[in-house]
Amino acid sequence: MSDPLVVGAVRRLAAAGIDNPRLDARVLWAHSGGDEALFESFVARRAAREPLAYITGHKEFWSLDFEVGPGVLIPRPETETVIEAALAAFPDRVAPLNVLDLGTGTGCLLIAFLNEFVNAHGLGVEKSEEARAFALNNVVRHGLVGRCEVHGGDWADAVGGAYEVILSNPPYIRTSDIPGLQPEVTCYEPVQALDGGLDGLSAYRALAPQIARLLCPGGLALVEVGAGQSDDVAILLAQAGLKTAEVTADLAGIRRVLTAGRR
Ligand SMILES: C[S@@+](CC[C@H](N)C(=O)[O-])C[C@H]1O[C@@H](n2cnc3c(N)ncnc32)[C@H](O)[C@@H]1O
Repeated sequence: MSDPLVVGAVRRLAAAGIDNPRLDARVLWAHSGGDEALFESFVARRAAREPLAYITGHKEFWSLDFEVGPGVLIPRPETETVIEAALAAFPDRVAPLNVLDLGTGTGCLLIAFLNEFVNAHGLGVEKSEEARAFALNNVVRHGLVGRCEVHGGDWADAVGGAYEVILSNPPYIRTSDIPGLQPEVTCYEPVQALDGGLDGLSAYRALAPQIARLLCPGGLALVEVGAGQSDDVAILLAQAGLKTAEVTADLAGIRRVLTAGRR
């Protein structure tokens, strides 16, 4: 990259409030393949606070590459805690587990799970048609067409059967907190992936009885929660007949994932 181009881009990104302007400029340059006009257009988008992952179209999760873009939530590092908790809860990596992922988004949780549990089969449910398209592409990208399906639907309303594993990272941000988030989130990411209602817990209220209905005896649900929500969500699960056996903290020490089974 020629110096003036780098310096100009870094300065522009820094002025726009980007945390890591040098890194972002480098990633965008690599993504442009050395095309200066394309690079300029990428820098303009990033300076308008479009998420880097939407510009590159990729995001790494659990060391796997996921296709992302407008209409789907970008996988977050703390969500990897769900997979860590699953590995701890299910030590047998060759068990033929049946897994359900409610609100699958890019499919990152389901795909990472199926990547670790080589004989598992899965179903992802996603209400958003746009997000579902990303999930389906990612299933193909990771060679999992024979082991998983992605359906549309309102949580598990249309799902029957019994599952040994239920994963979910539902929207859990209080509606009133959303305008205060970073512009990358508020202006670009889909609100239905973020908005947890008045108290942030609306999705858990809907999910708890559905999880209780679909979990087989001995099965476990792994549910991501927002900071400070673990006790409230454990109560909602308990009201549906589920006992929280474990709470796993993320790398920041936040109680992030509840592992719950039938009482
Ligand atoms: C926080 S995002 C998580 C996405 C993905 N599982 C991840 O961890 O990155 C929540 C997802 O739930 C989906 N969703 C919201 N309400 C839903 C509903 N009623 N039924 C099914 N999916 C829903 C959203 O569209 C979004 O993709």
